[in-house]
Amino acid sequence: MQIIDSIHEWKKIRETLQNESIGFVPTMGNLHAGHASLLKRSIHENSTTILSIFVNPTQFNDANDLSRYPKTLEADLDIAKDLGVDYVFFPNTDMMYPDKYRYKVTENAFSAQLEGQHRPGHFDGVLTVVLKLFNLIKPHKAYFGEKDRQQLLLIQDMVKVLFLDIEIIPCPTIRDASGLALSSRNQFLSIENKLLASRFPAILQSNKALEEIIGQLSNLGFVVDYVEDYGQYRFGAVKIQSVRLIDNFDIPTTDDSVVRRRVYEQ
Ligand code: PAJ
Repeated sequence: MQIIDSIHEWKKIRETLQNESIGFVPTMGNLHAGHASLLKRSIHENSTTILSIFVNPTQFNDANDLSRYPKTLEADLDIAKDLGVDYVFFPNTDMMYPDKYRYKVTENAFSAQLEGQHRPGHFDGVLTVVLKLFNLIKPHKAYFGEKDRQQLLLIQDMVKVLFLDIEIIPCPTIRDASGLALSSRNQFLSIENKLLASRFPAILQSNKALEEIIGQLSNLGFVVDYVEDYGQYRFGAVKIQSVRLIDNFDIPTTDDSVVRRRVYEQ
């Protein structure tokens, strides 16, 4: 496994990979079993897999969230090596933003909703860095988790509208035994709050009206940012103290009100 921290060096290597099928897994590091599932799939489906580790400052709307984002490079490299990753692309901010973020990708509709409504500018940062990474890595396939469903949908859309020749592969959400979706931010939860957090997925997924779900979460002590249905998915974001959790599920269809609403929307 080779670690590359220079764009120039990477471009030279990329030229030698013309006959390979290139799978790409972009991350912000602090790898867990969720990231590992994407890497395993890429390694299975491609002759060469590239992992990127870059804590992208432009997608953080909260300076505190950025400064405390966990950085565990040594452990990440061990995981990547054990899995069989070929290259780790590890750029810094000056390399990725030589323009100091004068240029950005903005989507003006879906990205302003749900996460975007609560994290202004977040998806500009995500789409911009992902496009830059795509242009550098030039992958055939790129792997994204369904855990961040809105991100996945926006990236699929960007690839389509900008005519990028990259196949986006959605990967299922990996959860712990309690059902809580794995996330780098879970480690900031106390044992007690982790227990509370583990109730979030089941409640979000329950076959109840949105207001009822919001009420139940609030009563338990979650601060609810949103619980909303969009397309075929139910999205939710809550906070426990300063830790933010997001999750999403297919909208349950057996409940009468949900069925009526979906018919009405058509
Ligand atoms: P990060 O949060 O590190 O996540 C990297 C990838 O891992 C994303 O595609 C995310 O959806 C996926 N992932 C995270 N937790 C997961 C889980 N429990 N199960 C399955 N997949 C999971 O998402 C980002 O980084 C950044 O926004 C990035 C795309 C790298 C752009 O900076």
